Amino acid sequence: MTINSAKFVTSAPSVGKAPATDAHEYAFIGRSNVGKSSLINMLTGRKDLAKTSATPGKTLLINYFLINDSWYIVDLPGYGYAQRSKTQRAELEKMIKGYILGRAQMTNLFLLIDSRHEPQKIDLEFMRFLAENGVPFSIVFTKVDKMGVEVSKRKIADYCAKLLETWEELPPVFVTSSEDKRGREQLLDYIEELNRLPLAGDEK
Ligand code: GTP
Ligand code: MG
Repeated sequence: MTINSAKFVTSAPSVGKAPATDAHEYAFIGRSNVGKSSLINMLTGRKDLAKTSATPGKTLLINYFLINDSWYIVDLPGYGYAQRSKTQRAELEKMIKGYILGRAQMTNLFLLIDSRHEPQKIDLEFMRFLAENGVPFSIVFTKVDKMGVEVSKRKIADYCAKLLETWEELPPVFVTSSEDKRGREQLLDYIEELNRLPLAGDEK
């Protein structure tokens, strides 16, 4: 898919304040600093569309971007940032979960995992939450440019093997780098495929 236009639309503090739309939308979630905002910039080819930062906890609202005047990308705040107060973390979790469970237009959630790390409890628990609630999601491994090809392949294979200890099958898996644009075509092709499906609630 070619990206012809990508525009910031609005930031919402909760799903209740999210824009009323009638189009497919794809949200990006994962731990703070995993590379959500960078991936959105890489996919859209716009360097500063989503705000990124070397310090975790940059994105704090539900950010909407309109792509090709026809579908939306949603940048969500990261979860699990330890430096935040318990109250702040609980509020963010409420916002994130409220959005994920309450947004009928969300066609797919991309769950980002740093490809360098071993499986983390917080991510595994989050996947369980998604599965239990029937949320359609895919796994996106990020920052593969930070390792050699063989090491990253092994790490990702180990991660998937760990998931298969408890899961019968894996959701779609993508391997990406926002630095060298690896995985861009695969992700955009997948979105293009999903864009052709009827929007949830629109099936006749
Ligand atoms: P929060 O909004 O704080 O939850 O973070 P985020 O998940 O949006 O992460 P962000 O995109 O802001 O990136 C965090 C840091 O990781 C930044 O310093 C990025 O430059 C870096 N980064 C993100 N993706 C990649 C990647 O694919 N490769 C490399 N080398 N660095 C990356
Ligand atoms: Mg961000």
